[in-house]
Amino acid sequence: MVIGVFDSGIGGLSVHRALVDKLPGADFIYLADQAHAPYGGKGGEEIVELTRAGCMRLFEAGASLVILACNTASAIALRRLQQTWLPSYRKQLGRAVNVLGIIVPTIEAATGLPWEHEAERRGDKVERLDVLGVFSTPGTARSRVYEIEIDKRRQDVAVFSEACPSLAGLIEDNAPRDALAKVIAGHVETLSKRIGRAPDRAILGCTHYEITADLFRDALPAGTPLIHQGTATAEAIARYLVQHPEYDPGCGGTRRFLTTGMPGPQNALIEAFWGAPLSFEAA
Ligand code: DGL
Repeated sequence: MVIGVFDSGIGGLSVHRALVDKLPGADFIYLADQAHAPYGGKGGEEIVELTRAGCMRLFEAGASLVILACNTASAIALRRLQQTWLPSYRKQLGRAVNVLGIIVPTIEAATGLPWEHEAERRGDKVERLDVLGVFSTPGTARSRVYEIEIDKRRQDVAVFSEACPSLAGLIEDNAPRDALAKVIAGHVETLSKRIGRAPDRAILGCTHYEITADLFRDALPAGTPLIHQGTATAEAIARYLVQHPEYDPGCGGTRRFLTTGMPGPQNALIEAFWGAPLSFEAA
């Protein structure tokens, strides 16, 4: 069996990298749904259907566990698939399969609290001293998942989201660095104006953005901590696999990369991030 990793495109490779580093002996298949990327501006039902199709493709290829290395799919499709599709699909396949997302580990990293912890609501007014900026796709921003889930756990953290409608597509299309830098600086400026100052910390809440993390670092005040979804997710998945031996991650250390788009080499941005040439097979 293998671990499947899914994203609309190359962004999920930022999570995949951390997973491979954490679990070097496991077998992995990465699937990029590049024929339909970007997801961020699509409607909810379409995102649910595309995510379900991607998961099925990975389960058919032998995955026991699929990680949605995509905030948009995790925010919009994951709960629906877990509640309405997976139980019957598991019966149909006759084996243990599951789909997990990246939002729970990110929120745990951002709050410093386990997911199960929900703060008791008190009536007194709380001063929100820690301002957290979340840069994401319009779909993730509309879901308000980071605001809602962080507010349940940490009433001293104020979350401000900034939707970046064109950024994932530009990264997917290998836009020049100066064009990306301009777009990112514009979003940091817009968010900072809205808050009244720069955020104290930031979540790059779209896995594509991690590929340009250095440009976010340049645009934010020096030293602003970034919460890394890849590391947080890899730690959480490693713990999950220990607690759930029914999901077999394999032990051959194999890696396959599939795309619903154009097979072949991927763009220079992701290859620089990955540190080696990457070639994708047709899904
Ligand atoms: N990388 C994905 C995310 O984390 C999706 C980006 C997109 O396709 O718009 O949201």
